[in-house]
Amino acid sequence: MKATECLNAEHGVFLTQLDYLEKMLNDKASIEAVRAVVLSIAAAVDKHRDFEEAFLYPAIQRYLGGNFPPVQIMEDEHRGIELCIKGVANGQNDTRELARNFIHILRQHIAKEINVLFPMAEQAIPAAELEQMACQCAERDAAHLPAQSGHGCCSN
Ligand SMILES: [Fe+2]
Repeated sequence: MKATECLNAEHGVFLTQLDYLEKMLNDKASIEAVRAVVLSIAAAVDKHRDFEEAFLYPAIQRYLGGNFPPVQIMEDEHRGIELCIKGVANGQNDTRELARNFIHILRQHIAKEINVLFPMAEQAIPAAELEQMACQCAERDAAHLPAQSGHGCCSN
């Protein structure tokens, strides 16, 4: 498995969670419930973003140039997503609006990664490097796995 496939599997989960959050907003769920769901999604999005910024984006820049504009745009969007999450975490009055913003920005961002950035990455970065990177992605989650389960893709 390549790191891009590993990250895209996470994108799929995030999109399902965002659909659920949107339904809660449409059904007029309480602010407290909306906040809890946003922050729960955000905890996983934080780990995902950290991995992209530590491993995948630098590799894209190594092969396609240090100031490769799509990577800069993705990093700027990460900062926008963080601002929404901070607003929700701080209990701002416009939590519902921030939650809708969070849904909108994250959906757009994920669509760009799936359709534009990741295909570029798979063209530019050798498959073996993306496979090695997927092992680091699995190791990131090792603390949540049973000790003897191993990481499948990392056994060689
Ligand atoms: Fe992503």
